[in-house]
Formats: sequence, structure tokens, C-alpha cells
Amino acid sequence: MKNFLNVNDVNDVEVLAQQAIDIKKNKFAYKHLGENKTMVLIFLNSSLRTRISTQKAAQNLGMQTIILNLTQDSWQMEYEDGAIMNGTTAEHIKEGAAVISEYADIIGIRSFPTLTDKEKDYSEFVLHKFLENVNVPIVNMESATVHPLQSLTDLMTIREFSNKKKPKVVLTWAPHIKPLPQCVANSFAEWMNKADVEFVITHPKGYELAERFSGKANIEYNQAEAFKNADFIYAKNWSSYLDYGKILPIDEDWMITDKKMQLTNQAKFMHCLPARRNVVVADDVLDAAYSIVIQQAANRENATQAVIKTILENNQV
Ligand code: CP
Repeated sequence: MKNFLNVNDVNDVEVLAQQAIDIKKNKFAYKHLGENKTMVLIFLNSSLRTRISTQKAAQNLGMQTIILNLTQDSWQMEYEDGAIMNGTTAEHIKEGAAVISEYADIIGIRSFPTLTDKEKDYSEFVLHKFLENVNVPIVNMESATVHPLQSLTDLMTIREFSNKKKPKVVLTWAPHIKPLPQCVANSFAEWMNKADVEFVITHPKGYELAERFSGKANIEYNQAEAFKNADFIYAKNWSSYLDYGKILPIDEDWMITDKKMQLTNQAKFMHCLPARRNVVVADDVLDAAYSIVIQQAANRENATQAVIKTILENNQV
């Protein structure tokens, strides 16, 4: 693994998830690996879990960490080739990214989609601009189309909480007041499609994910039907991919409630967080013993550590 950009950088998702579970048992066993090395974490968007868990993961491996909130703390960056920079942008990505990579052994980047320019978002424009201009490995901390650190964590968590070899995992769309990216759902789908699970996606019509992410998943438009016999319910809102970035009018109530969870096979409830209570998911679900969202969030540290450890070992950075 040179970079960790998406699921295609991973040889075997189940093996990496198991490595994360193993690391959790002895977090400081590889502290020598990152000694005298620095990970720079670049945020173009807000974060709680990714910001803290990635720092912890790198520090557990002996690395130093530096956070740069690129849109607040630094010069406004220009990404377009050939731009005449006589406006608000003061530094071009060609110099900015190259200079950051002089200070870093690994770079983490978070950059959300525009939700207005589908072509640009789905080409991973910002992530690739960084890739073109750095000479160190990059870890995707959530980009325009995917959130692989989250998805690895999700698979790790499913393996920890399941005694079945092939559990039924249901990704369900849930409502939200704002248009959100498709990246968590896209990413979860492509990881589940490579994992040994029975995978179902349920959403209202019009919320189909890009086929390259939904892949071989079973699509069920009836949420109650999808929930039957489920071992894991993974809730997430996303805006429409087809009518790009839009919230579509829907008739049924798709919020996750305890009553709906009772349709399942005593399923565990998962969500990447943050989750708006009583909009996306009811209090009685998040407060139930079957909700594992806190344990899931805690696993972000271990999953990220498995990724950074692999990069440090493979690249000898
Ligand atoms: N799940 C997740 O990525 O959380 P943050 O946006 O808080 O980092």
C-alpha cells in the first residue's frame, strides 16, 4: 500500500480489518515504526472523530502530528492550472502541496464534494491535485466520493460484534435537513461488496448510488422488507446522485426507530456520526443497548493505525 485513497489500495479488506482488531489489543507495540516521522493532517472541512482518532493513531505509532485547517489557517489555495491569480487565491496547489510534503512523511487530507459539480466531485479533483504535487504517501480522511478510514472501521466493528461468518448487513438511507455527500454510503458499499457479508441497500427511489459503488449489492426500496433478518443496520443520509446534490421529496418516513429495529434479527445499530437525533435516528435507537455507535467511533483509532502502520512498513518513509 503506497497511498490509502480507496478500497482499491487494499489487497484484502478482511485481513486489514483483522489487523485493526489485533492492533487494538496492543496499541503501542509498533511505537518504533514512526519515530522521528511526522504526519500532517490537512482539513478543508469540519471533523471531530477523524481529527482526533487520526492523531491518536499516528502518535500510537510514535509519529508527531501537525494539523492544518487549510481554509482557515493558511493562504487561500488555487487548484486550477493556468489560473491568473489576481483574485482571492494567494497560493497555488503546485507550491502549497509540494511545500507541505517537504515537512511530512505522510499526509492526511479531508476534502468534501461541492455537491454542485458532479463531474469534478467524482473525478476526485482536490485529492488528485494533492497527489500530483506531493512526494509522500497520502491517507484519504474523507474525500468527494469516499471515506475509506470510516469503512475499514465499519468492517472491523462488524467483525467484532458478529459471531456469524456471513452476517446480513443493511445500509439504509435516512432523512436529513441538508444535502449531504454520498461518500460514506459509496465507501461503505464498496467495502461491503468486497467483504464476506450478505449486503442490502435500502433507499427511496431517486437515491440510487453510482453503480460503481453499489456494485453487486441487493437494492430493496421497501425499508421494512430490507430490515427483516438483518444483523446490522447501518444508517446514513445522502443527497441524490442522479439529481446531483438534491434532497428529493419522499412520502414515507425513513427515520430509524426502535419499532423498525424490532423487524430485524436483534440487529446492532451503526452510524458513522455525527447523527441528528430524531431526524436521522430516534433517541430510542441511539440510547438502546443495541446501538454500537460509540464503540464504532472508538474503533476509528485502531483502523487508522492499521493503515498508517502498513504505509510506514511498505514505503519505509
Ligand atoms: N465519521 C466521521 O468522519 O466523523 P467526523 O466528520 O467528525 O470526522
